[in-house]
Amino acid sequence: MIEVKRLVYGYQASEKPVLNGIDLTVRQGEYVALIGPNGSGKTTFVKHLNALLVPLEGSVSVDGMDTRNPRDVPEIRRRVGMVFQDPDSQIVGMTVEEDLAFGPGNLRLPPQQIRRLVDDTLAKLGLSGLAKRIPHTLSGGEKRLVAIAGVLIMKPRCLVLDEPTAYLDPAGRQRVLGIIRELNNEGITVLHIAHDLQDIADASRIVLMNGGTVLLDGAPGDILNEGEILETLNLAVPPITELMRRLREQGWSVATNVLTVQEALVEIMASLPGKKGEAHLCAGGAVEAVSHV
Ligand SMILES: Nc1ncnc2c1ncn2[C@@H]1O[C@H](COP(=O)(O)OP(=O)(O)O)[C@@H](O)[C@H]1O
Ligand SMILES: [Mg+2]
Repeated sequence: MIEVKRLVYGYQASEKPVLNGIDLTVRQGEYVALIGPNGSGKTTFVKHLNALLVPLEGSVSVDGMDTRNPRDVPEIRRRVGMVFQDPDSQIVGMTVEEDLAFGPGNLRLPPQQIRRLVDDTLAKLGLSGLAKRIPHTLSGGEKRLVAIAGVLIMKPRCLVLDEPTAYLDPAGRQRVLGIIRELNNEGITVLHIAHDLQDIADASRIVLMNGGTVLLDGAPGDILNEGEILETLNLAVPPITELMRRLREQGWSVATNVLTVQEALVEIMASLPGKKGEAHLCAGGAVEAVSHV
């Protein structure tokens, strides 16, 4: 659905470009995690996906529409919804429900239809109880969900989220990550800029940017195996992933694309020497252990 070719961009024409020839194709339904050190160009890159920025060289197209074509920009922005890093910059309404009604209101939809869209979207994100609240009185996690709701109400096919768990407590973070996973399961393409690799356990693909280029692009298991590169770039590999890598070095046949303790348990049980053990990951993330003696 997204095709980026040889994209070059710089904020000042006189300076060194910030994006140095990016090639990337994203298919409908993928969950792509975009990682990379601070200043590597992640935010600048995703702003190209809904024509907030346009390439100096190369091209960006969404479902075949070129972002440099002004006539296609409204449709591109409808298809690619952007949740910015700072939710405050995105929330404009006096109340949560007014904020959500803003986008559909711009499309001049009939009031009853807007009402229904607002109610449905609030319910979907578990925000119904907050409809009348004043946005600046919400918690960080709630604000983030309201910002996501404001984008989701426009029914995008692709959701771009720029560090959506920044400044959230563990509960808020799990809630936001759960919603992202659910939306992707429903078929929405996800591009998730993540600072913390523990946030991207649900991604189907990881793209690593450095210095305005794509350094690595592949399956999570393969990218997380590049411990040395990740370390050089100061991208901390989650401890559980590191544990799996070390077990593998010791001759255990465990997968290394492991990001959660539950997955690690399943891997370790399956490869226990001597006694045959087995564990299954149940719905909801619980682990069921079965030992055959
Ligand atoms: N509005 C801007 N004007 C000028 N330079 C910018 C602007 N936004 C970002 N930059 C520069 O572009 C580079 C990439 O920044 P950014 O895309 O924000 O990276 P990331 O999101 O990976 O941290 C940095 O060197 C940053 O200073
Ligand atoms: Mg950024």
